[in-house]
Amino acid sequence: MRPLHRIGALCMFAAAAMLVVSCQDSEQDDAAVGGDAEKTITVGFSQIGAESAWRTAETESIRSEAANRGVNLKFSDAQQKQENQIKALRAFIAQQVDAIILAPVVETGWEPILREVRSAGIPVILVDRGVNVSDDSLFATLIASDFVEEGRMAAMWLVEKMDGTGNVVELKGTTGSAPAIDREKGFHEILDAQPGMTIIKSQTGEFTRAKGKEVMEAFLKAEGDRIDAVYAHNDDMAIGAIQAIEEAGRTPGTDVIVVSIDGVRAAFEAMVAGKLNCTVECSPLLGPAAFDAIEAVLAGETLPKNTVVNDRIFDQSTAEAELPNRRY
Ligand code: AHR
Repeated sequence: MRPLHRIGALCMFAAAAMLVVSCQDSEQDDAAVGGDAEKTITVGFSQIGAESAWRTAETESIRSEAANRGVNLKFSDAQQKQENQIKALRAFIAQQVDAIILAPVVETGWEPILREVRSAGIPVILVDRGVNVSDDSLFATLIASDFVEEGRMAAMWLVEKMDGTGNVVELKGTTGSAPAIDREKGFHEILDAQPGMTIIKSQTGEFTRAKGKEVMEAFLKAEGDRIDAVYAHNDDMAIGAIQAIEEAGRTPGTDVIVVSIDGVRAAFEAMVAGKLNCTVECSPLLGPAAFDAIEAVLAGETLPKNTVVNDRIFDQSTAEAELPNRRY
């Protein structure tokens, strides 16, 4: 092709391309002002990490619900660090997402970044854990279980099981996190009213199996046969503790009573095997509720500040029947 013809062909191609682009633009505008096709929304999800089976199930619930609804999800794993969550939120602002889902690792330290997000006009949906802020207009809603009540439920079950006597050790969740603070509070509230029951050791196991095992080994070394029961703030730590109890030559579920929180499938299997005594359910299947909340808030609705997820309690008497129904 001679140079002039080549330039002419390029001009025609450019004009055609501009036409296509402008058609696409006007299609998007039509959709945005109420045409048949709906605008694809983009949501940023700042997740804590993958410390437990519960956390992985929550990630999966949010990812699959985003896919079902055709939402463009930007996922960020903070590896347990608040500073990574703050960076992710800033990146979501720069990317001009339509909404943010935040599962905050700890309760405090959120106010400045949430103000930045609010200034950018982006609604924040908190899932699973709450934040400690002076101004609750910094988030649209919190969708979570009542962790204090979970602690109470675990304690009431244990008091009955132990006839109000015995020594308990406690494996706590991540220091500063809402579930660790509240599950401790609810549990202690009930146990403190029992003169025959004492919490002889209490330490964080960071919500992981490995740390739960390590801390339980140390408890067993220090207290040996004085330990009658373990209260773990989640199932993963309870399963780690069960391994430590077995390795110490004692029988979990009989010599040492084990009660925990979450209701993951492995906990039900451990109950059927007689090694775990009780788990309080805490549903991680928050995807549908989170995206319902986003749709509502983007439609201009005001949401209740707190949507409480209902929890049930299961022990060895109900575990086998429930096991096939578990979705996480
Ligand atoms: O915030 C919910 C808690 O976090 C779950 O109980 C625990 O397993 C998780 O890591």
